[in-house]
Amino acid sequence: MIILGIESSCDETAAAVIESTDDGGIRLLSNITATSAGVHARTGGIIPEEAARKQVESIIPVIDLALKDAFSDQQLAIRVLISSYIDAIAVTIGPGLIGSLLVGVETAKTLAFVTGKPIIPVNHLVGHIYANWIVDDSPPFSAHSQKQGPLTVNSVRPSFPALALVVSGGHTDLVLMKDHGQLEWIGGTRDDAAGEAFDKTARLLGFEYPGGPLLSKAADEYLSQLSTVQSTLNLLPRPLLNQPNFDFSFSGLKTAVLRTIKDLVGEDQNMKMADYQWLSKMDIVQSEKSRLAAEIQEAIVDVLVDKALRAVEHYKPRSLLLAGGVSANSRLKEKMVEKIKKQSLDVQFHVPAPLLCTDNAGYIAGCSFYNYRVCDWKNIDANPELTIMDKI
Ligand code: KG4
Ligand code: ZN
Repeated sequence: MIILGIESSCDETAAAVIESTDDGGIRLLSNITATSAGVHARTGGIIPEEAARKQVESIIPVIDLALKDAFSDQQLAIRVLISSYIDAIAVTIGPGLIGSLLVGVETAKTLAFVTGKPIIPVNHLVGHIYANWIVDDSPPFSAHSQKQGPLTVNSVRPSFPALALVVSGGHTDLVLMKDHGQLEWIGGTRDDAAGEAFDKTARLLGFEYPGGPLLSKAADEYLSQLSTVQSTLNLLPRPLLNQPNFDFSFSGLKTAVLRTIKDLVGEDQNMKMADYQWLSKMDIVQSEKSRLAAEIQEAIVDVLVDKALRAVEHYKPRSLLLAGGVSANSRLKEKMVEKIKKQSLDVQFHVPAPLLCTDNAGYIAGCSFYNYRVCDWKNIDANPELTIMDKI
C-alpha cells in the first residue's frame, strides 16, 4: 500500500508519500513541507488570507516534489505518477484555517477525481499522534526529503493502550487510545493551547512569530549555564497543577509574564498592554530575556509533564505519546524522561523526531493507513472546527 498525504491546515503546505512495510508498519518515501511562517513573522501572527494565498502557490509544486522524490522520477507528470504508483490519497480536512484547508481538500479531491484513486479524510489532531508510528529510518530517501535532518528517535512502534498528549499551536488534548480509531478524551485546555502560550509570551519578549522555537532556544541556552534548574525557576504560576483533573489553563501565563516585564522595565502595572508599544519599549537586557524565557518554558513544561504523568498513573497505559509542534521542545522531552524514571512508571515513552512533530504530511498519510476509511470525493468537506474526538 502506497499513500500520498496532503496537509494544508495552517501555514504549512505539505505532501508526503508513505508505504506499508511487511511487518504491518509504515515508512516514509518522501516528506516535503513549505511554510509561509516567514510572511507572518513580520506581522506577529498568521494572516489567514496571506496563508491561504501561499497555500495556493505552493500546493502543486510541493505535491510534485513529494511524488518525484518518492519515486526518483523527474519526468512524469503528477497525474501519471499518482495513477502509476499511488493506492490512495489522504488529506487533512480540519481543524485549521478554512482558506488554508480548502486548498488541500480541493486539490486532493481533484487529484482523486482525475486519477480515480480513493480519498481518505484525516483529522489533523489525530494525525499528529501518528508521527509516533513513523519509526523506520531506512527509506530510500532522495535529495529533497533527506536534507530535512534525522528522521526518527524511536525504533519501536507504540503499543496499546496508549495515552497521547497532543500539544500544538491551537490545541492541547490528552486522549486515551485503546486501539486505532478508539479514542477517549480525558482532558484538555480550558483556554489557550500550550503552543499558543509559548507564542504569546514569546511575542511579549520580542521574539518573531512563531515564537515557541525561538523562546525555547533562548531558554535552553540559559538552562545550560545553570547548575540546579529546579530551585531557580519558580517565578511563574503553574495553573491547575494541584487540581484532581486532567485539564490545563495557560491564559494566565501571559498576564503573569506581562507583570514581570512591567516590573523589570519600571512601568505602571495599571497601564493596559494596548497603551504600550511593547516591542520598542522593551529594554530588558538580553540575560533577563533569556531568564524569562526559561521561566516560561519551565512553567508550561511542568504542567504538561505533571498532568500527563498523573494520567499515566491513573490509566496505566502501555505507551505515552507526545504529539504536535510543542513536542519538539527539548526540555519537555527531557523532563518527561526524568520524571518517568523518578516515579518508576512502567510506561514506554514515545516522541517523534522534531521534523515530524511540527506540521507535515507524513503523519497524515500514516494516520490514514491505520484508519483506512475511503470516502467518495463528493462527500469530503473542510471542517475548521473539528475536534480531536469528532468522527469523520
Ligand atoms: O502542530 P504545529 O506544528 O501546528 C499546529 O497544528 O498548530 O504546532 C505549532 C506550535 C507553535 O505554537 C510553535 O510555537 C510550537 O508548536 N513549537 C514549539 C517548538 N516548536 C514548535 N514550542 C516550544 N518549543 C519548540 N521547540
Ligand atoms: Zn499541527
